[in-house]
Amino acid sequence: MTLATAAQAAYIVAALLFILSLAGLSKHETARSGVVLGISGMVIALAATVVLAADGGETLAVVLLLAAMVIGAAVGLWRARIVEMTAMPELIAILHSFVGLAAVMVGWNGFLEVENGGGARAEVPGSLLGVHHAEVSIGVFIGALTFTGSVVAFLKLSARIDSRPMMLPGKNHLNLGALAAFAVLTVLFVISPNLGLLVALTAVALLLGWHLVASIGGGDMPVVVSMLNSYSGWAAAASGFLLDNNLLIVTGALVGSSGAYLSYVMCQAMNRSFISVIAGGFGIEAGPAGDRDYGEHKEITAAETADLLKEAKSVVITPGYGMAVAQAQYPVADLTRKLRERGVEVRFGIHPVAGRLPGHMNVLLAEAKVPYDIVLEMDEINDDFATTSVVLVIGANDTVNPGAVEDPDSPIAGMPVLRVWEAENVVVFKRSMATGYAGVQNPLFFRHNSRMLFGDARQRVEEIVSAL
Ligand code: TAP
Repeated sequence: MTLATAAQAAYIVAALLFILSLAGLSKHETARSGVVLGISGMVIALAATVVLAADGGETLAVVLLLAAMVIGAAVGLWRARIVEMTAMPELIAILHSFVGLAAVMVGWNGFLEVENGGGARAEVPGSLLGVHHAEVSIGVFIGALTFTGSVVAFLKLSARIDSRPMMLPGKNHLNLGALAAFAVLTVLFVISPNLGLLVALTAVALLLGWHLVASIGGGDMPVVVSMLNSYSGWAAAASGFLLDNNLLIVTGALVGSSGAYLSYVMCQAMNRSFISVIAGGFGIEAGPAGDRDYGEHKEITAAETADLLKEAKSVVITPGYGMAVAQAQYPVADLTRKLRERGVEVRFGIHPVAGRLPGHMNVLLAEAKVPYDIVLEMDEINDDFATTSVVLVIGANDTVNPGAVEDPDSPIAGMPVLRVWEAENVVVFKRSMATGYAGVQNPLFFRHNSRMLFGDARQRVEEIVSAL
């Protein structure tokens, strides 16, 4: 068996490991082994790639490949070690942008190599040159769109730019125009490939990627990140065709289809139109200005909250992003223990997009050793709020916003939320009256049965624990 054949066999093993990895990641209990399988697949794939390059006698390529791998691995390890759990989605978004950029470079390289009549031209038979140019055009388009889209998602998620949707007049026509321009440019490029057309095509895709994601509001950002994940997969698959690399095609297709499916499932969970989100907020128009007067809010102290809890029969805690920021899960776990010792029924209500990534709250609560059987999904707890004595909303905002159900003009209208306002008493832990991620005011704070407990969630929960 030649080295090249061995490397191709290793690619098949890596592809199988990636599929098993996805299967493992789909369940909580097997997620850890899923990650190990994925890492093993990637190590095999990288080793096989180096072997293939070495087998081709390209010493410079091997040296460059190894240098890039060492630098990439060092930066990757460093960033992954220091990233806060709350900043994970933005890290993922910026990593997607690298895949997009790589696909653009592979496309450009594919064009320049073949056009300059280098070694690669001989490998593309004349009858397939048109197909090759179509591959370049599609690969560059998906890659450039993923690149700028991911950069905007990164900037929005890290609050470097406003998370509200950008509403350019005639935005849907702009998107459709860009798609039409892409189709025309691709046809022209296949008929008569030249650098000018490739530059124009790249520019259209870069602008479209920027506009698509900028037009989507913060509340829909989780879906956008998973959609960009899907795009980055298709960009990688397109690069696989250009580089004649089967593993890249398989891996790209796995990422592309699983990302698309995850986006679809998230859209269903948030009652969002999948088409609207992938088409840059198609059909969503700017709502009326959000400075409506909701009346006065009432405040409560930690000591008064402790008194309320002492009298309570049942308590539901609905955590959100603020619990992660304050790292309040440990005192929350203490509070849960104390209340249960007193005979109070305590349960948790977890919204599917609470925090900044799927499963964010579950991970934090598991870390603080909160028993799993009292941590319930939104659908499992929503009907029980009406019979709950006290709800503690700890650093959650959008996920408990009654406007989503009651106000058709709300930017998050239609998103299923935890109906905490149906409980007898609601205590909201946050530092100010500021809005949540979607930038929408929350009428919950002004309800007759709601009281605000201002301050850092960790500190306030600790005060309640000591008062108990
Ligand atoms: P958010 O709506 O983001 O609200 C979090 C609240 O926590 C803020 O209003 C903030 O108010 C408060 N807070 C921040 N730091 C705090 C601290 N140290 N102590 C106490 N409170 C603090 O949270 P949510 O209800 O979890 O909703 C999640 C939002 O993120 C949704 O809009 C969702 O669509 C979006 N999103 C979700 C994901 C996924 S997949 N989960 C990914 C990206 C985006 P103050 O500033 O007044 O303290």
